[in-house]
Amino acid sequence: MDYQWYPGHMTKARRMMQENIGLVDLVIELCDARIPLSSRNPDIDALAQNKARILLMTKADMADPARTALFQRYFEEKGFMVIPIDARTRKANEKIRAYVEKACAAKRERDRRRGIIGRPLRAMVVGIPNVGKSTFINSFAGKASAKTGNKPGVTRGKQWIRLNKNLELLDTPGILWPRFEDRQVGVRLALTGAIRQELLEEQELSLELLDYLQKEYPALVTGKYAPAEGDAQWELPMDNAALLSRIAQARNLLRTGGEPDYQRAAKMVLDDFRNGKTGRITLETPPAGGNDRE
Ligand code: G4P
Repeated sequence: MDYQWYPGHMTKARRMMQENIGLVDLVIELCDARIPLSSRNPDIDALAQNKARILLMTKADMADPARTALFQRYFEEKGFMVIPIDARTRKANEKIRAYVEKACAAKRERDRRRGIIGRPLRAMVVGIPNVGKSTFINSFAGKASAKTGNKPGVTRGKQWIRLNKNLELLDTPGILWPRFEDRQVGVRLALTGAIRQELLEEQELSLELLDYLQKEYPALVTGKYAPAEGDAQWELPMDNAALLSRIAQARNLLRTGGEPDYQRAAKMVLDDFRNGKTGRITLETPPAGGNDRE
């Protein structure tokens, strides 16, 4: 199995962040609520040192709510202000705005003492590809947003999106590539669609998913894939390949000759998960010992 590394993109993203971090008051980081650990890039902690930090757990609508609550507490204990969101809606906007103000209260107070009043707060939005940065910015900024143009001291061409008189977002989101030197991290990123499909074979990936689901969410697997007419042999856990074969049969995904079509079954299982059709699933649990990569 090959885990492609993206040194070029990574260097560019780091440089972009390093160049701009001094211009912002806070960093709004996005992670995928279904894989909150694997979808965070650990470098950001160093890059965003001394900045106010808000962590938005996107795609919370597809994640297991009980696990999301556990992760929220886990990250809060690490000092983040955390909000689980469905980035496609505007439901959390008020709360996010309130958190932004809270996160930057000390900054506002410093400004006030220096006689600077009404200076908008500036935020940088960062996250790995596909985590929902554009979706979030669109929902959060909405129609009210307007590009404010170049500012003195800011690299030419850089745009700020003015949300209101209090808040501006740097419009180039900081794209951080995930770290997937750990095999499981790579698998989870491929399962959620954060890294390209070809990196891991669909069948192999679907077996990884079924393995996890059988252990952690067996009722969802049965509810989704057990044949309607009942199957005396359907008892989880079973061998993952056998389960894929059963699923293919139950859904009539057969090749000429009646053999199960593993490829189509694998694709269906993956698509169902990615589209949230299998149920609300989270692929990780907060580590007990505080190590982010367990
Ligand atoms: P990016 O800028 O960070 O790369 O991510 P982007 O906003 O493009 O979002 C990637 C996909 O994830 C989009 O789906 C978007 O609708 C979806 N998405 C983002 N946030 C949420 C969320 O909170 N909940 C749900 N359910 N979906 C979310 P897409 O346009 O269909 O793209 P794709 O899935 O085909 O890649």
